[in-house]
Amino acid sequence: MHSCEQASGDPAGGLACATMITDSWLADTRTSYDTVAASYTELLRDGLAAQPYLRAALALFAEQVRTAGGGPVADIGCGPGHVTAHLQGLGADAFGVDLSPAMIEAARRAHPALRFEVGSMTDLDLPDASVAGLLAFWSLIHIPDEVVPTVFAHFRRVMRPGAPLLIGFHLGDGTRLKTEGYGGHPMRVHVHHRRPDRVSGWLREAEFTIEAEMSINLDRTLPGAVVFGRA
Ligand SMILES: C[S@@+](CC[C@H](N)C(=O)[O-])C[C@H]1O[C@@H](n2cnc3c(N)ncnc32)[C@H](O)[C@@H]1O
Repeated sequence: MHSCEQASGDPAGGLACATMITDSWLADTRTSYDTVAASYTELLRDGLAAQPYLRAALALFAEQVRTAGGGPVADIGCGPGHVTAHLQGLGADAFGVDLSPAMIEAARRAHPALRFEVGSMTDLDLPDASVAGLLAFWSLIHIPDEVVPTVFAHFRRVMRPGAPLLIGFHLGDGTRLKTEGYGGHPMRVHVHHRRPDRVSGWLREAEFTIEAEMSINLDRTLPGAVVFGRA
């Protein structure tokens, strides 16, 4: 067992120190996204431009945060921070958390006015009832089924009662091992595809209520889904 800081050499402190990497799949995920951080940032910078349904979902989510009284919004598994910045542009007080120190460095470089910290959703180092909204876009795809309840318990714990939640993920069934990506760089990540009712079921068990499910890009290579919940 070693801390994120020891393993990554990242002296940034904050959430980095608190994150314990005890599982090889989690260490592999972090190493993989460290490897692809630069190319991912380049390739995904304008990723939302081609995703009208996701932009609509994010606009609705930002409105829900506002209506619920506003406050800090956590983007968990934020990658290079383009969605965090989009939320900020919609008026949300958004900050990002990601497992990969290289992704967090990229996010800080691209969006110096925003707050980004290294941390894992499996061991979320945020105070109880401290966030007014929580987003996890295509980051839960790397969490094995047996760990999802732990992650959702953390989400529920850190959210204020009544705060909105938005989860995005690959639609489908089964798991594949991804061994390269984002321009042919080596990766070793398991990618879990799921049905919305499965994700909603886990969320209900974690004491969220479900407000909406939407499937998108159904005839594209990688269909997706979003689930809107409420703490
Ligand atoms: C496919 S990328 C999605 C990034 C961004 N949310 C987006 O929509 O472009 C997956 C991200 O999830 C992060 N991630 C994976 N497992 C995580 C964990 N346990 N805790 C926090 N972030 C994690 C990865 O480091 C990576 O940046």
